[in-house]
Amino acid sequence: MLLNMVNMTAIATPPFAVYVHWPFCLSKCPYCDFNSHVRHGGVDEARFVRAFEREIMSSAERTGARAVSSVFFGGGTPSLMQPSSVQAILDAIDKHWGIAAGAEITLEANPSSVEATRFRGYRAAGVNRVSLGVQSLDDAVLKELGRLHTAREALDAVGVARSIFERYSFDLIYARPRQTLAAWEAELKRAIGEAAEHLSLYQLTIEPETQFAGLYAAGKLAIPSEDLARDLYDLTQWICVDAGLPAYEISNHARPGAECRHNLVYWRGHEYAGVGPGAHGRLNTGLQRVATETEKRPESWLMRVEATGTGQTVNETLTPGETADEYLLMGLRLAEGIEPARYLALCGREINPRRVAILHEEGAVEITADGRLRVTQSGFPLLDAVVADLAA
Ligand SMILES: C[S@@+](CC[C@H](N)C(=O)[O-])C[C@H]1O[C@@H](n2cnc3c(N)ncnc32)[C@H](O)[C@@H]1O
Ligand code: SF4
Repeated sequence: MLLNMVNMTAIATPPFAVYVHWPFCLSKCPYCDFNSHVRHGGVDEARFVRAFEREIMSSAERTGARAVSSVFFGGGTPSLMQPSSVQAILDAIDKHWGIAAGAEITLEANPSSVEATRFRGYRAAGVNRVSLGVQSLDDAVLKELGRLHTAREALDAVGVARSIFERYSFDLIYARPRQTLAAWEAELKRAIGEAAEHLSLYQLTIEPETQFAGLYAAGKLAIPSEDLARDLYDLTQWICVDAGLPAYEISNHARPGAECRHNLVYWRGHEYAGVGPGAHGRLNTGLQRVATETEKRPESWLMRVEATGTGQTVNETLTPGETADEYLLMGLRLAEGIEPARYLALCGREINPRRVAILHEEGAVEITADGRLRVTQSGFPLLDAVVADLAA
């Protein structure tokens, strides 16, 4: 791909990210509430790709040319796309915005749909990082999670990723039914042996309206108690720190310098455009921050784009208070925390000093030497409560 190098210094200027949502999967996992859909009759991929190109054009007309510092193909299962589709979408992003030299371009892949030839095609299209949904290294667990791959197949997919991409990451889900500390320790250590620079480790969440939510409500799915979940979390932190993969975000671990630059854009409150069904964006217009959202249902999104050039259904200017609270909510997920001065600049008031003092006394937050506010190691398992306490 010929990159239109609109701004060679883009990585040093505030980043601008593009999220591309591919909403289709081979089957629906029982724990998943992402905007993902199964289409047994197949998907008219070429028609969807044309709609992505159109939506990219409209979105770029709005923002003007920007040096895109990262692109993330998420899903759903983007690894079901043909490399030529990924190429066409990246070409459209480059044509209408401009992809900066050295941009991080990630594609999320499901081990059930990993083939070396396709991965080579993604690389030729410009993808330079993949994120694989391994989920577990235990076949019985994978079955219970509704996955279509075995542990061997997942590790083979990691091997393919390793042989083709310089940067790769994979996801595991822990705090699963009947999981013991000893079993997780062995599984995580084995996973680290296969990892390179980055790992995403998510605690199983029972999301409303998923199959797991129904089983849980019916008493047919037992998840670890709060105490065990806490111990599993602590164990995860020790093992990863020991292996040189500390958490830089509550669920994301990396060797220093190997963090996912795209996801940092969300957590640091920078700008990003979202394209595709159900994609969210945050754009800055002057001093205002605008939240955008597109139609979630793939075929409705397609028809909207074909009729109007965009699938956008939400275009809402956030109030200064909402902008500041979002910065707090996202930024406190990071080990580096947030800048209280930026919060003040965004909404004209300080983060409640009395609440900060109480949380500090409880050991849940701390102020760093350079004045940042961050959640402590012992505060992280209580992150939702800490954020709820600090947000206005
Ligand atoms: C969009 S999905 C993954 C990409 C790809 N479709 C796959 O499944 O391999 C992103 C990740 O979120 C995590 N995830 C999804 N639902 C979850 C849940 N209910 N609890 C914990 N982690 C979850 C999984 O680890 C998953 O890999
Ligand atoms: S976890 Fe991944 S493969 Fe499973 S339904 Fe969700 S997006 Fe699709």
